Amino acid sequence: MNMTIRLALPADATALPAIERSAAELFRLNPPLAWLADAEVADAAFHVQAIRQARVWVAEACEGQLAGFLRAVPVDNQLHIEELSVSQHFQGQGIGRKLLSAAIAQAGEQQLCAVTLTTFRDLPWNAPFYQRMGFTLLNADETAAHLIDALHHDSAHGLPAERRCAMRLMLR
Ligand SMILES: CC(C)(COP(=O)(O)OP(=O)(O)OC[C@H]1O[C@@H](n2cnc3c(N)ncnc32)[C@H](O)[C@@H]1OP(=O)(O)O)[C@@H](O)C(=O)NCCC(=O)NCCS
Repeated sequence: MNMTIRLALPADATALPAIERSAAELFRLNPPLAWLADAEVADAAFHVQAIRQARVWVAEACEGQLAGFLRAVPVDNQLHIEELSVSQHFQGQGIGRKLLSAAIAQAGEQQLCAVTLTTFRDLPWNAPFYQRMGFTLLNADETAAHLIDALHHDSAHGLPAERRCAMRLMLR
């Protein structure tokens, strides 16, 4: 499938909540996490704000339809990935990998030292995927303050702390 990865434009924001909701349907495969498929997602106004800061990438199918997005924020010379979502219909076709590669490439061009994220340790489309992309699991003593905050934020939103982990890809 022809898929373009590009930085998002403000006009893309209206499509992103539906992508995040559709992507989350995947969590129904893991019954204790099925509630995530019905959880609230960020609204379009939130996405417009993030897009204006130029840290959101979208995957656009050739018909102009958006299939997925990645949102990240720079923190302490690192790029922290806050969200990666691919609509259910488009999953498993390499789009998530392409979005992640675009973010990593930009972080490298901008001389950032690492890319970070928090995710589920045990879901096959989470930590094992990031490990294949070169990310490593961080121990408590290697976990930077922004990742500890992100893990606390995850727990505060009901994500089971024992299944969450922080990961980092060093760039230099
Ligand atoms: C994670 C996500 C964005 C990946 O998007 P995608 O377009 O399906 O990803 P890709 O097709 O590029 O596949 C990525 C890897 O995950 C694996 N994968 C994808 N879907 C999978 C599934 N349902 N079961 C098992 N593995 C899966 C693929 O094997 C692939 O690994 P590889 O490239 O090393 O072979 C997508 O699954 C999603 O939106 N999930 C729900 C939200 C989520 O978990 N976001 C990440 C938060 S940290």
